Amino acid sequence: MPPSQPIKAARGVRDIMPAERAVWSVAERAAHQVARAHGYQEIQTPIIELAQLIERGVGEETDAGGKELFRLVKRGHEELVLRPEATAGVVRAYFQHGLTQGPQPARLYTTGAMFRYSQPQAGRYRQFHQLDVEAIGDASPAYDVECIEIAMGWMGGLGLRGLRLELNSIGDQVCRPAFIEKLVAYYRPLKDRLHPDCQRRLETNPLRLLDCKEEQCAPFKAKAPRITDQLCEACAAAFAQVREMLDGAGIECQLNPYLVRGLDYYTRTVFEIVHEAIGGAQNALGGGGRYDGLAAEIGYADTPAVGFAAGFERVVMMMGAEGEEVIPPPAALLLVVPDGPLLKEAAEVGRLARAVASTAVDYSERSLKAKMRAANRLGPRWVAIMNQEEARRRVVQLKEMAGGEQREVGWDELPGILEAELRA
Ligand code: HAM
Repeated sequence: MPPSQPIKAARGVRDIMPAERAVWSVAERAAHQVARAHGYQEIQTPIIELAQLIERGVGEETDAGGKELFRLVKRGHEELVLRPEATAGVVRAYFQHGLTQGPQPARLYTTGAMFRYSQPQAGRYRQFHQLDVEAIGDASPAYDVECIEIAMGWMGGLGLRGLRLELNSIGDQVCRPAFIEKLVAYYRPLKDRLHPDCQRRLETNPLRLLDCKEEQCAPFKAKAPRITDQLCEACAAAFAQVREMLDGAGIECQLNPYLVRGLDYYTRTVFEIVHEAIGGAQNALGGGGRYDGLAAEIGYADTPAVGFAAGFERVVMMMGAEGEEVIPPPAALLLVVPDGPLLKEAAEVGRLARAVASTAVDYSERSLKAKMRAANRLGPRWVAIMNQEEARRRVVQLKEMAGGEQREVGWDELPGILEAELRA
């Protein structure tokens, strides 16, 4: 029985079609380039991780590490999930493969698909892709700034303007507990007037009260105690150094005392890069910060680290809106167009030409006229037309599509001629 409706893609995922894929390639190449230029090495960790790693690392109470986790059907003893982000996996790999013994910090980056079962909306998908950059094994705030420079450098290099860097410090295990106590003491008497989500946050994750975007909570938030007024000496000094080094790098930032981020592992510096043209809650192109407590949370030795991730979907969308235009290359530079049943001969010409230029062959049974119409839509630089008599003489009519010039060329000369034309 065929299905009652044609089968479409799942909700919240998207196909990247060839024209858009060309823009992604530009973004990917730039990502590798900027990360390598700062001495970062590529790593690839699995898309599947143990549930425990994500629940402990990202935090079970967070959206990404809790209710939005894609859980796989349990097989055997392992509880597996699709990774909602890369940081926990990269840190796990750092320890598991002894990078603790190598140069510190380990500078690592990765790109790939992440999965969060969230409500799909513009700019928010259930499968999305990140550039993720991590410096693991050193507590210097200089690495915080290095990560910010990589993030801004990547986006700026792709032609994005109108970027705004938002910066905050959320303290550490020394000063944060006292701040949270203060925050809870402030919000407790207001509980009944808070949005239900915030009533819950007050009990489970009070820091996230500061992240609330509900209008009904806004007046309370405006008067709430600020973490940056409560930082311990070490956190305050680190925060000052981050700002000073940003200044030295010529990177402007906007201090945002409400920026707390949606994942549990952060300490001290947190940041987001937002784009002024994207409204709503999905306006962050990237974000990150320091996470000195994550390693211990997943069972390894205390190790300071910092990093960020940025979403390809959002960056590519903004490239379309304001980045430099990317003109997708033609599917093939040369199209071989046999006039008549010359499959074997056309294939041979294709093989010869392919050594120097991308070459496709029209194997259809259409008329020559129909094949030429199809060639116009495909947009190769040249077509090589050949009828039975020409095939016998091992020649093609090589036609430049733009200029319309045509000349007879022997099969064996074809690669050399194409090569010379490409070099010219
Ligand atoms: P995040 O803020 O959850 O951080 O995600 C970083 C970026 O990934 C976002 O700014 C956004 O561009 C993109 N993103 C997140 N969720 C979605 C979605 N559902 N659809 C489309 N794009 C999305 C992290 O993931 C941390 N691991 C960053 C980090 C690395 N912190 C330290 N190291």
